[in-house]
Amino acid sequence: MIIANWKCNGNKEMMFSWTADYERECDDNDTFVGVAPPSIYFKQFCIENSFLNILGGVQDVDYLDGSRTGAISVDMLTDLDCGFSIIGHSERRQIFNENNNLIKEKLKSLNNEIITILCIGETKEENDKGLTKDVLKDQLEIVNELSLDAEFTVAYEPVWAIGSGLTPEPKDINEIHKYIKDVVQSNSANNLSPKVLYGGSVTDKNAESFFNEEFVDGALVGGASLDGTTFAKIVNIFNKTKEL
Ligand code: 13P
Repeated sequence: MIIANWKCNGNKEMMFSWTADYERECDDNDTFVGVAPPSIYFKQFCIENSFLNILGGVQDVDYLDGSRTGAISVDMLTDLDCGFSIIGHSERRQIFNENNNLIKEKLKSLNNEIITILCIGETKEENDKGLTKDVLKDQLEIVNELSLDAEFTVAYEPVWAIGSGLTPEPKDINEIHKYIKDVVQSNSANNLSPKVLYGGSVTDKNAESFFNEEFVDGALVGGASLDGTTFAKIVNIFNKTKEL
């Protein structure tokens, strides 16, 4: 499973060239590929890429509809056949002050409706203090006693690895992914072991080192997904690595 998060990047012209570049580079494969463009371009993205095997998704959602200026609701996503929604990204937590209570409401409203990709991750300071597992466990509390959809997915994105060119060692990522799977499995009502993606400075140069690890089920790619050729290379690498 390889997901692109375009964040607040892109425009109409970029989308045309992205599709052409992706199509040229991507091998035939059956990897689950999703792209979350800015919501305002969601429909255009889906139309332009309808001949490709890519699921369109969004980067965030609100949990209610009605008098909530600027919001997009789960019902609206369902109406437009949206394939997945990212929630809990560290940029939402840090820039927009989103907390676990709000993210839990989002999870509950998406659950069993639209595939949810829940982002979690520790800061550099927390990592340095050896608090990574404690922080992740706190962030994962929102799944407690919820019966999770079979496709519920977690993205482990260390905040310090996002856009920095820095990454944890692949074996450390593997250990954290195993931990995340165990925590979710023991705390969710239906004991679901989720897929866990790695995110944070993934490129076509380092992707294979992550995909070689047993508990890495894919990647959530930011900057490197803005280029259709590079993103297709990451998809191809995933397909080859996990096929073996
Ligand atoms: P980068 O791949 O640019 O580090 O971003 C990762 C990310 O935040 C994806 O959600």
